Amino acid sequence: MNQIDKSQPSEDNSPACEQENKKGLRDSQDVVKAYRRYGRLYNMVFGPVMEPGRKQALKLMNCQPGERILEAGVGTGLALPYYPRDVQIIGIDVSPEMLRQARETISRHNLENIEIQEMDVQNLEFKDDSFDKIAIMYVASVVPDPKKMMQEARRVCRPDGDVYVLNHFASRGRIMRGVEKIISPLANLVGFHSDFDMNQFLTDAEMELVSVKGVNAFGYWKLLHFRNRPAADNKTPE
Ligand SMILES: C[S@@+](CC[C@H](N)C(=O)[O-])C[C@H]1O[C@@H](n2cnc3c(N)ncnc32)[C@H](O)[C@@H]1O
Repeated sequence: MNQIDKSQPSEDNSPACEQENKKGLRDSQDVVKAYRRYGRLYNMVFGPVMEPGRKQALKLMNCQPGERILEAGVGTGLALPYYPRDVQIIGIDVSPEMLRQARETISRHNLENIEIQEMDVQNLEFKDDSFDKIAIMYVASVVPDPKKMMQEARRVCRPDGDVYVLNHFASRGRIMRGVEKIISPLANLVGFHSDFDMNQFLTDAEMELVSVKGVNAFGYWKLLHFRNRPAADNKTPE
């Protein structure tokens, strides 16, 4: 079982974290401010383009009746209608503006199996082993400390449970660098950073990597499936 002493300060010295802090949103207050400002544009700008990834994540999750599932960084709730109605979902997010929209999504689709809470994914208020599965979609490179986020995911996921991370990682390709420029300054909102390194993230995750799949346009986003047990030797497939 993965236990963490929450009284200890978070480890804050991973290269991935340092890089993100330099280039991205520095702390959760920055995140809240950014989404308060641009959150209303979110569905329009980032909804359809990143929809295939959300659908593939839900397919891979293969949710079973009665499972307890955490969606961390649930945002406006774009993935919520895709979960089966016989699972119990808790969606958390640090941004009140995004959660306001998530509540609208829930009521529009009449999703009675879904609960929403304002919470920081780097400091979850759930007991150890609370969930069967955890989905973290387009959040890893938005949070100031992705390593701490994964520590918390390990802690609240049951042993041998599943953690799914969908994200964009560093791309050296000219096309994606161009896309990053075009969507700037909204790039921070979806964690488009040219230095968010997948290998560092896999090391920091400290969980067994089950699969990696390219999704969305050109497969430039990656859908990672982890099993909540100690990592053997996580390597990015070339
Ligand atoms: C790019 S959006 C993704 C939203 C949603 N998962 C989707 O698929 O559209 C990133 C979300 O992560 C949330 N977020 C960022 N940092 C967070 C944190 N420390 N704790 C919880 N949520 C956070 C943001 O507020 C935002 O709603």
